[in-house]
Amino acid sequence: MEKIKNKFKYICQNCGYESAKWLGKCPECNNWNSFVEEQVINEKTKRYSFKTSRESQLLSILDVESKKEERYSTGINELNKVLGGGVVVGSLVLIGGEPGIGKSTLVLQMSNEISKKYGLVLYVSGEESVSQIKMRANRLKVLSKDLYLVSETNIKIIEKHIEDIKPKVVIIDSIQTVFNDDIPSAPGSVSQVRENATKLMYLSKGEGISIFLIGHVTKEGSIAGPRVLEHLVDTVLYFEGDKNHNFRILRSYKNRFGPTNEIAVFEMQENGLREVTNPSEIFLSERSVDSSGSVVVPAMEGTRPFLVEIQALVSPAYFGMPQRRCNGVDYNRFPLLVAVLEKRVGFNLANLDIFVNVAGGITVEEPAADLGVIVAIISNIKDFPTDPKAVCFGEVGLSGEVRAVSHVDERIKEATRLGFNKCIIPESNKKNLSLKDNSSIIGIKNVREVLKMIF
Ligand code: TYD
Ligand code: MG
Repeated sequence: MEKIKNKFKYICQNCGYESAKWLGKCPECNNWNSFVEEQVINEKTKRYSFKTSRESQLLSILDVESKKEERYSTGINELNKVLGGGVVVGSLVLIGGEPGIGKSTLVLQMSNEISKKYGLVLYVSGEESVSQIKMRANRLKVLSKDLYLVSETNIKIIEKHIEDIKPKVVIIDSIQTVFNDDIPSAPGSVSQVRENATKLMYLSKGEGISIFLIGHVTKEGSIAGPRVLEHLVDTVLYFEGDKNHNFRILRSYKNRFGPTNEIAVFEMQENGLREVTNPSEIFLSERSVDSSGSVVVPAMEGTRPFLVEIQALVSPAYFGMPQRRCNGVDYNRFPLLVAVLEKRVGFNLANLDIFVNVAGGITVEEPAADLGVIVAIISNIKDFPTDPKAVCFGEVGLSGEVRAVSHVDERIKEATRLGFNKCIIPESNKKNLSLKDNSSIIGIKNVREVLKMIF
């Protein structure tokens, strides 16, 4: 008889890449020092009990009934939107983000609303005791009697709790704390995270329970990154934000039941996360219109336009190499745009430091922001403020040409809604506009033309 032996393997704790030898750098995700030796359970000894009442059935695609999936509303409109219209019943959702960003806060607020409307919600915390959660719940005014809390990390006990009370929704906070004592590796390692998430996936699909997994993303590779779970779950949401600002962006990276790249904006307050339904107004609220080096750009996040302020500061360079620093815009495009300014528009920038920043800790990485970066720099060099009622956008090519971008109608509509009456856009986009009133729209072909329009 063939002897079944458990093998040892080195597994990248960031992405799950497996290797027979220890490696300093992961060939898959390029992380350094992320390999940890783990005992891999032989495939032949693995057993999953996947309860199903029916046998699978072969069908022609024409005979398959198309059903509209059933969803729960989370009570938080912005979250519903990111999920594609609420949580699909029986789906598995991963919410990732750095520690302290607000994941537990968001799911607790959501659990409260869901349990009030639809019935039992089970919140399993491996990180906090139930009394700690209660303290947070008091702050958030979470008071639903159908919200059950348990502080537990053993997957078998968690499964038992779920079978006992049959909740509609389960929260696992966080998947890295859950462990299965049949697996020799430590909690948080790739084998543990993968096994436990798979068990929970079978549970959610089999019983029709929506399960939210919370996963920490850390810069070091010491905890298994949620990336190993991305293919397993139906929906992946990431919580992003700058610790120094109160704004948080929840973004969908994968969604089997809705759009990807959709975002929701939240603001962290004393009593929890508040939805920001009008991000443009907030991001522009501190703008001073009479100072030079600032311009407003309608940026797109997924299907949603919002206005951001791009700022530039140009000052004489005193030491050696002039500095080129940017924050919130594409790091690789920035020097290219500075070169276009020198070569195509004719500014001499050799002895000047250039700093560019997007106000509010927002990141706009799309090429449509190119024109904004160029205008902000020019405005600061000339020390002349841009027209306070003007916005501009467009991709800038190496010969200084302004190239077409996507979602032009949405960008213009958002700018007009907030009272901007001059939109400087790529000429080639102007031809295909579906907007009726285009009196406020100016098309340009080259960056040199923007100088006549924006001041
Ligand atoms: P938390 O949800 O615990 O983050 P995560 O689960 O992602 O680790 O949120 C942590 C931060 O949020 C913490 O620094 C305190 C802050 N916070 C508020 O500002 N207001 C609140 O009402 C709550 C509950 C938290
Ligand atoms: Mg937490």
